Amino acid sequence: MEVLQDISLKTYNTFGIDSRAKYFAEINSEEDLKEALRLEEYPEKFIISGGSNILITSDIDALVLHINLKGISIVEENEDVVTLKVMAGENWHELVLWTLERDYGGLENMSLIPGNTGTAPIQNIGAYGVELRDTFVSCGAMNIGTQEIDTFSKADCEFGYRDSFFKNEGKGKYIITSVTLDLSKKNHSLNTSYGDIEAELEQNEISEPTIKDISKAVIVIRKSKLPDPKILGNSGSFFKNPVVSKSEFDIFSKAYPEAPFYKVSEEAYKIPAGWLIEQCDYKGKRFGDAGVHKNQALVLVNHGNATGKEIIDLAYRIIADVKDKFGIEISPEVNIIK
Ligand code: EPU
Repeated sequence: MEVLQDISLKTYNTFGIDSRAKYFAEINSEEDLKEALRLEEYPEKFIISGGSNILITSDIDALVLHINLKGISIVEENEDVVTLKVMAGENWHELVLWTLERDYGGLENMSLIPGNTGTAPIQNIGAYGVELRDTFVSCGAMNIGTQEIDTFSKADCEFGYRDSFFKNEGKGKYIITSVTLDLSKKNHSLNTSYGDIEAELEQNEISEPTIKDISKAVIVIRKSKLPDPKILGNSGSFFKNPVVSKSEFDIFSKAYPEAPFYKVSEEAYKIPAGWLIEQCDYKGKRFGDAGVHKNQALVLVNHGNATGKEIIDLAYRIIADVKDKFGIEISPEVNIIK
């Protein structure tokens, strides 16, 4: 393992922010990771993986470890279920394609989500009615303090909406090294309940979709709404959809009966932040190189040379305007690196 100096992180984060790492090392094995964490001459370490859910707002005065652990293996299988162990540095969408080629079901609705497999549990990635936790069995994570790999079961991970143990008590204490998933080999349980998927399948006159058909539909929908980070820097949804109480929701829906919403429980309602932001007239707006995507107001974009500071300033401005207009507080989903 080699430690490099003064490296641009522009290609290591999907926002394309050109901040610099004081020191940088590529991590190709668990041994590399152990060794790097033990380097006392670099007391500060910063972990970067797919770089798809971070906004870097300044240079990083630390040793940046780029997690590049690779490999997909079958741990166990029977007639119905295959258990896969996927190393953290495997690209998520390539994993999804790999499973579809073998007709393993469960990940198809999460096609084209940017980022790597190791970061998927941190925010319990999800799309079109399916979340990582639905197929998740366990993950391996290196304890930064002891450099031992601990196994976390699904319960240990405390998954919630775009949330987990690793975003809370576990924050800064572990580095996920592998993820183990259970996928179906037959009688796949399909989730086409999401309106956009139903419409896309209908348009293609597909009444009995395969998992590949679902994946294709998801890819078409995502491409129509979400920018490709290779072309336009972004981090997917920048904000979480706010969850409000029944009484707050009643006031809101009386004032805005046209607003879309999802009922989470008798007591909780989720309101799409994209709708709230669009109502504040931000959709497609641009402030220098920082902007709001033209097809999905939940996504902030870097039109070229925006700094992380410019993006976060825009985010704060949006949060303040949404609060002023609706009295609802939205918050970032993306990890802000100060
Ligand atoms: N909407 C607007 N204006 C917008 C965007 C959305 O009015 O600019 C409205 C839509 O018309 C729709 C509702 O808001 O009625 C919901 O929009 P959409 O179906 O696009 O989904 P979302 O709630 O905005 C969430 C996830 C996405 C995920 C989609 C599909 C969050 C924070 N985002 O978005 O996840 O792909 O559902 O499941 O939960 C991500 O996390 O990076 C991400 C893209």
